[in-house]
Amino acid sequence: MKKACGVVLALAALGAGTGLSVAADPVDADAAQALIKKSDCGKCHAVDKKKDGPAYKETAAKHKGKASAEDDLYKHLTTAPKIKIDGKEEEHKKVNSTNEAEVRNLVRYILSR
Ligand code: HEC
Repeated sequence: MKKACGVVLALAALGAGTGLSVAADPVDADAAQALIKKSDCGKCHAVDKKKDGPAYKETAAKHKGKASAEDDLYKHLTTAPKIKIDGKEEEHKKVNSTNEAEVRNLVRYILSR
């Protein structure tokens, strides 16, 4: 009995120590940034600065609270929709990955900026 109590206390201490910051859908920021680099997205996007494309923060704000945000951006990054840059129509660059989990992680990274 005494031993079991000790285990419970130790677990409680552990939980307090880590702040229990476990989100529902944790974002792997390192993986997202690596994929951004690999896909050359930095040419037109930055987290908080507008380049040819909107800043990720701007995109996150625009889609905030929309239930379809993740699916919308997933589609944006995998289907090369037509966009306009300086009045010239071109296809948006596709993300350099066919792994859905990897791409969704990137989308959640952008949406959480
Ligand atoms: C040649 C420049 C260019 C490159 C490269 C590029 N983008 Fe974009 N991106 C744009 C432009 C311009 C827009 C705005 C399109 C619009 O609003 O019609 C945009 C829009 C977006 C949006 C917002 C879509 C929305 O519906 O709000 C996201 C997210 C995005 N890009 C992510 C990426 C990622 C991730 C990559 C790398 C795979 C990437 N972009 C590569 C120019 C680029």
